[in-house]
Amino acid sequence: MKNVILVIDDDKTNLSLAQRLLGPQYRIAACNSGRAALKYLKTHRPDLILLDINMPEMDGFEVMENLRSSIHTESIPVIFLTADSLAETEIKCFQMGAMDFVTKPFVPDILLSRVSKTIELDQYRHNLETMVNVQAQKITESSMRLGRIQDSVIIGMANLIESRDGSTGKHVKNTQAYVRMIANELLSRGLFTEELTPSYIEDLCKAAPLHDVGKIKIPDAILQKPGRLTPEEFETMKLHTTHSRKIIQTIIGDIEDAHYVRLVEDIALYHHERWDGTGYPAGLTGINIPLSARIMAVADVFDALYEERCYKPPVRPIERIMQIMSEGRGTQFDPVILDVFTDMLPQLKEILHITEKEC
Ligand SMILES: [Fe+2]
Repeated sequence: MKNVILVIDDDKTNLSLAQRLLGPQYRIAACNSGRAALKYLKTHRPDLILLDINMPEMDGFEVMENLRSSIHTESIPVIFLTADSLAETEIKCFQMGAMDFVTKPFVPDILLSRVSKTIELDQYRHNLETMVNVQAQKITESSMRLGRIQDSVIIGMANLIESRDGSTGKHVKNTQAYVRMIANELLSRGLFTEELTPSYIEDLCKAAPLHDVGKIKIPDAILQKPGRLTPEEFETMKLHTTHSRKIIQTIIGDIEDAHYVRLVEDIALYHHERWDGTGYPAGLTGINIPLSARIMAVADVFDALYEERCYKPPVRPIERIMQIMSEGRGTQFDPVILDVFTDMLPQLKEILHITEKEC
């Protein structure tokens, strides 16, 4: 199929000359004004435009500006035509994005050669762009696949660790769901909007399952103890936060996404900090505790109370859990986050499939 060339020139002699010279090899469309050409281009996409500079009403430069400002025409290659051979004119043509510049009157061989080379070059560019897009798509798909595998491994590992203290296995999944729910609700209420970007929330949810990964280093005798821990045992238990950070640094410390690594470390290290500074391991206070860890703290404690553990029965009804947690408002928990969480009781029941009868 022949390539289509649009010739834009107010001089009919030039239009018919272009038709005669290029017609045998190309399909020619001709417009005798810039306005007529822009109208034609609303419904057609030629392979090349030959554009006269000196035209009444709308000159070639103005037409060019219109072409470059529309997504439909910006990539069509343009060769400027002019009787003017001044260097400044030539420079302006290239600055405006012309592929080439041909002086009038046309020298047939030069015009044919420049037209064919420009079309050839544009086709190479187009093929290259297509190849780059295909490769980029393949890379995206492959990194998404790797991401999914990584997520499954993380969840699997976290479940394995949780199962050691006799948890039902729902802790990882549920805390992740609570964390997502809290973060989205805070955002929808216009709270912490600078931090809670979509990618932060996504990373937060991916990070949540790793919050207790350091429990792998806590002895079974402490982790599975049915009764209350002695002060010494509790000191050992507290170390799971610092163990978590070290393990995280080992397993994901070398990935390139520094923000994500930092977020996972913060959640793991600081999810037992308390708003009033009496938590561990660092005794941070208030907003010095990273937001991720303040959200995780609420989700973690709720789930610990809701689920049965080797050392305690589940707390019921769910309203009783909220009452217990409210006692830690402003001492254990960030009051803003706790208030939002408390307001979300209906959604919580939905996540937990709790019917009114069960409550
Ligand atoms: Fe923990």
